[in-house]
Amino acid sequence: MKRWIALIAGIALASTAALVAAQASKPVSVWSGVYTAAQNKRGEELHADVCIMCHGRKLNGAGQAEMPPSPAIAGESFLRKWGGRNVLSLFVYVRHTMPIDGPGTLTDQQAADAIAHMFAISGIPPGNRELPVDARTLTNIMIDAKQ
Ligand code: HEC
Repeated sequence: MKRWIALIAGIALASTAALVAAQASKPVSVWSGVYTAAQNKRGEELHADVCIMCHGRKLNGAGQAEMPPSPAIAGESFLRKWGGRNVLSLFVYVRHTMPIDGPGTLTDQQAADAIAHMFAISGIPPGNRELPVDARTLTNIMIDAKQ
């Protein structure tokens, strides 16, 4: 009896692993719930601390006059610009070049949270899973301008 349970558990585990592997290789869209509402909140706070003076409160590039002219980091034209690329490329860009007056000062987690907020302001809905910081998963999440 015990052996049967172990066998069934083993099969269940193996098929779960296969399922996870299959999901990992299949690209998903940013529109499929790739960040959480709580993560957006953290990103919003970070934005207000670190990004707002250049990219503006609405993330539309309307920052303070004394700051360098900065592009919109949310909305349709931003999504079109990054459309067809994966979230890893955006993550690497933000993580290593922003804020432009202190590149490399964000943690991986902060970069992911900032991107969650950029998606939220772009009208992309939240879901149940946080936007992760691992490269393999981010490679499989594609940026599309439209749902
Ligand atoms: C001191 C001003 C400044 C601050 C602060 C700043 N940025 Fe930027 N950001 C810029 C400028 C200028 C560019 C355009 C750079 C270029 O085109 O080479 C830019 C570009 C970007 C882009 C790419 C936009 C595009 O059109 O592809 C993203 C995404 C971005 N910033 C996110 C952030 C985030 C997130 C923060 C806060 C953690 C931040 N920035 C803080 C000035 C700033």
